[in-house]
Amino acid sequence: MQRTLTITRPDDWHLHLRDGDMLAGILPETTRDFGRAIIMPNLVPPVVTSLDALRYRARIIDLLPDDDDFLPLMTLYLTEGTDPEDVAMAAKTRTIAAVKLYPAGATTNSDSGVRDLDRVMPVLEKMAGIGLPLCVHGEVTDPHVDIFDREATFIERVLSPLQTRLPTLRVVMEHVTTRDGVAYVNATRNTAATLTTHHLIINRNTLLVGGIRPHYYCLPIAKREAHRLALLEAATSGNPNFFLGTDSAPHTDPAKESACGCAGVFSATNTMPCLAHVFEEADALDKLEAFTSLNGPAFYGLPPNPGKITLTKQDTPVTFPAKIETDAGPITVFDPGFPIHWQVA
Ligand code: DOR
Ligand code: ZN
Repeated sequence: MQRTLTITRPDDWHLHLRDGDMLAGILPETTRDFGRAIIMPNLVPPVVTSLDALRYRARIIDLLPDDDDFLPLMTLYLTEGTDPEDVAMAAKTRTIAAVKLYPAGATTNSDSGVRDLDRVMPVLEKMAGIGLPLCVHGEVTDPHVDIFDREATFIERVLSPLQTRLPTLRVVMEHVTTRDGVAYVNATRNTAATLTTHHLIINRNTLLVGGIRPHYYCLPIAKREAHRLALLEAATSGNPNFFLGTDSAPHTDPAKESACGCAGVFSATNTMPCLAHVFEEADALDKLEAFTSLNGPAFYGLPPNPGKITLTKQDTPVTFPAKIETDAGPITVFDPGFPIHWQVA
């Protein structure tokens, strides 16, 4: 039985760090294991301009200890007022690594998102020209579409037509949750996907059977088991177009444990041990490094991190904190629902 695994330091290609007290409280949970992360721009107000991104990056870096070389990779929040020249300048100066498309109303703080794709075509054309990736929250917001079908419907109604129109646009389908999403990535050029830790572990039964469990509620919502199995197969396949994006998205316990609870699973603390468990169960520990540390940098045109991490397997289960206490309030850590024996040394 394998007891240790040394891999290139991983990156998180989809992360919510928030701001202020929340940012200060949770940042160490990511920087402990990860070298870089793509930082989501859905603050209130959102990170829309290159100047917003520079300022947000400075607030993150100010909180890092001097000897911590964690690198936040910034994104811009695409709005119908986004200036293509500002995006091009931010890409050229490496202020940003990507632009994020939120369909207006699809998820947390997405009100400033895009209602009419035609209105952002000049930005998307510019991005296609310079090779800047578009990170997509792939769910329709049509109230007539069932919440469990919103990803598949988005592919059909929005993403496929967009990529037919702009085939050179580089797209990351964020937090893919369906076999339809996996199939689309496999069939489409210039397209990759991030997969979250929690969507590899939970299905909609975990969320709803025996009582509603708000800490498993996120968007896109967890789907049925057959979809989870498709995600697992993609993650453990070694296919370079699939890589880790935790979508670790902190909300305080009162905001989650509510009659109208917020969407988001906070998994930064124990993602690597959870993934080691999942990959080992799938007999694919040898594919973990590609998923967490190699495929993402290759898509984004960056070198892998220079450092390594070592995961070790313990005889007795490892305990992780149930909550992270921040000055913004307590944040519950993702509970995979089974004992984890791996830890990052
Ligand atoms: O569950 C989610 N939480 N999904 C998202 O798309 C946004 C995120 C958040 O910001 O809380
Ligand atoms: Zn997210």
